Amino acid sequence: MVERNRRLLLRRRPVGLPAKADFDLVEEPIPEPRAGTILVRNHFCSLDPAIRGWLDDVPSYLPPIPLNDPVRAITLGRIVTSRHPDFQSDGWVVGMNAIEDYSIAEPDGFLRPVDPAAVPSITLYLSALGAVGVTAYFGVMEVCRPGPGETMLVNGAAGAVGSIVGQIARLKGCRTIGIAGGSAKCKRLTERYGFDAAIDYRGKSPEALSAALATAAPDGVDMVFENVGGMLLDTALMHLKLHARIALCGLISEYNSMTGSVGARNLWQLIVKRATIQGFFTGDFLNRSAEARTALAAWIEKGLLVVDEQIEEGIENAVPAFLRLFAGTHDGKLILRIAG
Ligand SMILES: NC(=O)c1ccc[n+]([C@@H]2O[C@H](COP(=O)([O-])OP(=O)(O)OC[C@H]3O[C@@H](n4cnc5c(N)ncnc54)[C@H](OP(=O)(O)O)[C@@H]3O)[C@@H](O)[C@H]2O)c1
Repeated sequence: MVERNRRLLLRRRPVGLPAKADFDLVEEPIPEPRAGTILVRNHFCSLDPAIRGWLDDVPSYLPPIPLNDPVRAITLGRIVTSRHPDFQSDGWVVGMNAIEDYSIAEPDGFLRPVDPAAVPSITLYLSALGAVGVTAYFGVMEVCRPGPGETMLVNGAAGAVGSIVGQIARLKGCRTIGIAGGSAKCKRLTERYGFDAAIDYRGKSPEALSAALATAAPDGVDMVFENVGGMLLDTALMHLKLHARIALCGLISEYNSMTGSVGARNLWQLIVKRATIQGFFTGDFLNRSAEARTALAAWIEKGLLVVDEQIEEGIENAVPAFLRLFAGTHDGKLILRIAG
């Protein structure tokens, strides 16, 4: 057990890709929980693209992280001291905390107890049974609304959300096409996640990408699950079927842009195809997240859902580990081990 609380503070707002100098790892005394709160020893934290958005001083669904505050992240940890009647010391919780050894947490809509004995691996609470799985589940079921025999295109298909999206769509009887960076990831798409076709976007011109998509889906796609944006979204828009649905989950290709948003230039295709594009946020489904977790847990138990996680070691590696999200040098859900 460390004597002090190591915390990753945001020192300045990144311009483009975050740099190590934007952050500072400091040591502070372990805080004391006040009445109504708990002290959590964080064991793992979830490294999510959303963190990049919170580093900027722009309006979002959560406020920007103030300068000199610890970097906000979802963590999985064990309660050291509870001063809240609903939480027992030694119990495990998931919550919106920060990249730090110890967090003070209180019920805020995000904090929830979890049972390590109920799952094959506790880190599932940060991947398929956490925000990632809930995002994939409701993005597919509520926003895309798949019908059997329909075709779904997933951009960012080999990532944490995308790999689960493709598998849910397949379980719902859809044909799935995944786009990802590199031949190794494309192999994973078809061999591990059961996609019917995979396209490597790296090094491809918009024309070459469009031609590859036309080959994979000659009649067009009924649904697009969008994680990337930019050229990938623009290309997808040119291959929609009539009444297509586009679930706008993320636009990671723009998160570090130094020249502003690329924007979707082929939006006129929404008119041509009478298509719908809908942005959504997992937080809006918090009160229904148990429904998603029950379905996802059942699929995992039956061996119908493959979940991949990449666990990076040590809070001192938080920044390089986080940057893997933008280099694409990780497989599955990116998690940082802080303790244990
Ligand atoms: N709306 C919501 O509530 C919600 C919730 C969770 C996540 N999200 C969004 O979902 C998306 C996926 O998140 P995740 O946690 O599953 O991450 P992830 O897919 O595991 O990791 C990010 C992946 O994005 C790709 N990427 C990174 N930079 C790129 C660029 N400049 N151009 C093209 N591709 C790039 C890389 O894959 P390749 O190697 O294949 O390029 C990378 O592996 C993100 O956009 C995130 O913001 C939204």
